[in-house]
Amino acid sequence: EKSGFKHFMLKEIYEQPKAVGDTIRGLMSSGEEPPFSLKSFRRILIIACGTSYHAGLVGKFWIEKLAGVPTEVVYASEFRYGDFPVGEEDLIIGVSQSGETIDTKFAVNFARERGARTLSIVNVVGSSIDRESDYTLHTHAGPEIGVAATKTFTAQLAALYFLASTEHPDRYKLLEELFKVPARIERTLEKSEAIEKLADRYMNRRDFLYLGRYLSYPIALEGALKLKEISYIHAEGYPAGEMKHGPIALIDEKMPVVVLAPQDRVYDKTLANIEEVKTRKGKVIGVGFEGDDKLEKLCNEFIGVPPIEEDFTPFLTVVPLQLLAYHIASKLGLDVDQPRNLAKTVTVE
Ligand code: F6R
Repeated sequence: EKSGFKHFMLKEIYEQPKAVGDTIRGLMSSGEEPPFSLKSFRRILIIACGTSYHAGLVGKFWIEKLAGVPTEVVYASEFRYGDFPVGEEDLIIGVSQSGETIDTKFAVNFARERGARTLSIVNVVGSSIDRESDYTLHTHAGPEIGVAATKTFTAQLAALYFLASTEHPDRYKLLEELFKVPARIERTLEKSEAIEKLADRYMNRRDFLYLGRYLSYPIALEGALKLKEISYIHAEGYPAGEMKHGPIALIDEKMPVVVLAPQDRVYDKTLANIEEVKTRKGKVIGVGFEGDDKLEKLCNEFIGVPPIEEDFTPFLTVVPLQLLAYHIASKLGLDVDQPRNLAKTVTVE
């Protein structure tokens, strides 16, 4: 049931405050604490595909910051055929909305057979990855119908933050902050109309670049993935600092560049990257904090999200990117919920 929304995807974007809130509450009330300490591992490997991989990239920063354990994020399909030394000293975190993605399932099982502990983050209770890993943290996003993952992504972020903070001395303070996220997502959703107008102006472009640093880098990747999978417009996500090592050659007056610039530790560096784009006449669509006049003046277009502590910025900055992709695809008259060539669950290699 689309409950008045034109597409499931839009409905699911709007369900994010609830998905995140339910996930935090679900994990806290069920006492779902992993039966081992993150700090007891030599290394953590996060294994996932697609959007879940992007959640993993954000999770890596949180785990390294809050738990201090070196963490790598690997595409499940690459892990399978690589020679990753993995064993008892490793914790494997499999992230999968469906819990059925074949590459992720194989990778997690491969690691478990070699003695690693396995923890998975899944949305579908009773799915293969849920059943086959040593321990599961469930996201409580509810069923996701649209092929493009939206609410399950922000719910995965909530579960990863919850996990990263388990052993932190200020855990309760951190979780209190996390509980503020759903209301801020709600406020971010109010930007939908403005983003729809933006979509009108940019829907006929052929290529988009998405840039971000640190926690915003995985969000740039995710924004680009959302746009390409439902609108079929070519889009690339890049760490903003890498731009000058190649992609800058693509920039001209026809290239919209979406830049994530919340006021975090890399804010000044990101502003410098925006200047570089502008010098090449690229059109900058900036996503940053409401009231950031300096950023707004620098950009051709500006979307403000409510200010929030650095750690939580990905929960908010991803929302305008989901909406931008949605409105562009919807205006192009495409089958948003069922894009060509894609399946919701990928059970082939
Ligand atoms: C993107 C998307 C896919 C999935 C990927 C992994 O919107 O939906 O990239 O994220 O196929 O799926 P799960 O999380 O079910 O393992």
